[in-house]
Parts: sequence; C-alpha cells; structure tokens
Amino acid sequence: MDENDKTIELINKLKDIPAMPNVIVKVLKLMHSESAGAPELAAVIKCDQALCTKILSLINSAYYGFGKQITSVNMAISLLGLQKTKNIIVTVAMSPLLSFQGAKGLWEHSINTAVGCEYVAEKYKLMNPDDAFVMGFMHDIGKVVLNLIDSERYQGFLTSALPPNLRIEDERAKFDTDHASTGSFLAVRWQLPEIIKDSIRYHHVPLKAKEYQGPSLVNIVDTIVQENFEEDWYDKELAKMINLQIEDVNSLRDEIFYRSKILFNELS
Ligand SMILES: [Fe+2]
Ligand SMILES: [Fe+2]
Repeated sequence: MDENDKTIELINKLKDIPAMPNVIVKVLKLMHSESAGAPELAAVIKCDQALCTKILSLINSAYYGFGKQITSVNMAISLLGLQKTKNIIVTVAMSPLLSFQGAKGLWEHSINTAVGCEYVAEKYKLMNPDDAFVMGFMHDIGKVVLNLIDSERYQGFLTSALPPNLRIEDERAKFDTDHASTGSFLAVRWQLPEIIKDSIRYHHVPLKAKEYQGPSLVNIVDTIVQENFEEDWYDKELAKMINLQIEDVNSLRDEIFYRSKILFNELS
C-alpha cells in the first residue's frame, strides 16, 4: 500500500471530512465564471454579516493604508480589487476550521505564511502576490485532517519546536501519512485551483512539483516565520533556484511579522 492509499484509507475512516466553508465555495465559483465582477462579489459578501464587518474593518486598517474612512462593501471591493477581496474572504472564512482545540497558533501561522509569501513574491518579483497569499494561507490545511484522525496523538506536533521539514518526517513515522498528503486530499475534494493544490502537496518537497516556484516560496517562508527560527533552517540553494536573494533574513522576518500583526489584529 503506498502513501496515497494509506492517506485515503485513514481519511475514509473519518465520520466527517471537513467541508469548504460555503462562502468560499460561492466566491471561487464566481471568480471562475465569466460574470465575476464587483457587484456579484459584493452580493456574496453582503449575505454574511460577520464577513461584511471584517472586510470593512480590514480595509480601514493600517495594513491597506487607504487613509480615508470606507463605509461600504462596494467601495471596499473597488479599492481592494477582486483578487484581494477574495483573499480576505478566504482568510476570514477559514478561521474557524484552523482554530480547532489545541491548534495553538495554526491560524496565526497560516496568516504569517500568507503575508510572508505575498510580501516576498512582490518584493522579489517571483510571482503574482495574490496567488502567493492564498498558497501561503492554505499550505498546512492538512493538519486539520490529521487532528481529526487522532487529535490526542497530534497535539505534540502542533507545539513541536522542530524545523518544519523534520516535523513532517515525524508525522510520517507516527501516522503513516503527513499533513501535505492529507491537505492534498482536501484540496482535490474542495476543487482548489491547481497552483494552490500543488503548493499544499509539495510545500515540504518543492522540487518534486512540476511548477516548483510556488511550493518553493511557501517552503522558504514557512520556515522563516517559525517562532524559534534559526538561520540555517531555510534552504539557501532552493532560494537561489527561484531567484530569491535574501540579503538579511532577520529583517525580512521582522517586516513579515510587522505586516501580519496588523492584519492579525484586525482579523481576530
Ligand atoms: Fe507544512
Ligand atoms: Fe507551515
């Protein structure tokens, strides 16, 4: 039985496989249709009062820095653009799923990685920063599934101080699968776009991906934003391969944390 069969066997034993939040289903469907536009997106947002409030508070925050009071969802979308609005919706709507009991810091880590991927993608002109944001945000979604498989056994992993690339080996040894495989299963079931699927599946083995730019970016940022990060943790060869010349990793870390703190304060 290969790792993929093992992952499916474990997931099939679950009573409930997490569903993608409804508002994300609607938004992704809309973004892939010809009629995607600000009024259609506004209509989806307005059905969800909590989402409306979050979007307005975010757009008025220092993270976006528009410097004027924005009071309508339509105005927010026209200032942010469709892509950024979609990313905010994904971040807000995924929050309950990533905040399961014992998931110490998983939502925060997902936001740190999202903000880091967006910032690094833009700063070093690596790829579309909006896509990079979602890749970073979703990369560890498989941890939700491992937690459902055996939450007691998974607790230690959520607080582990090991570098991410070693932690995943530990998962494989104890679960016969890992969060990249379970995440990839969810990504297929949720019909996420190919680039997001691949960044979930390959973020710990980026060079196995056909398009390795995205998974490599996630791999590096994921490592850099670890709380107890040490400089020799991130793969400098990999960084070179995607033309990511990090001059000073500590100031890059500081900048990412500064940005995500603003976003995090508005979201929580
Ligand atoms: Fe991971
Ligand atoms: Fe991670």
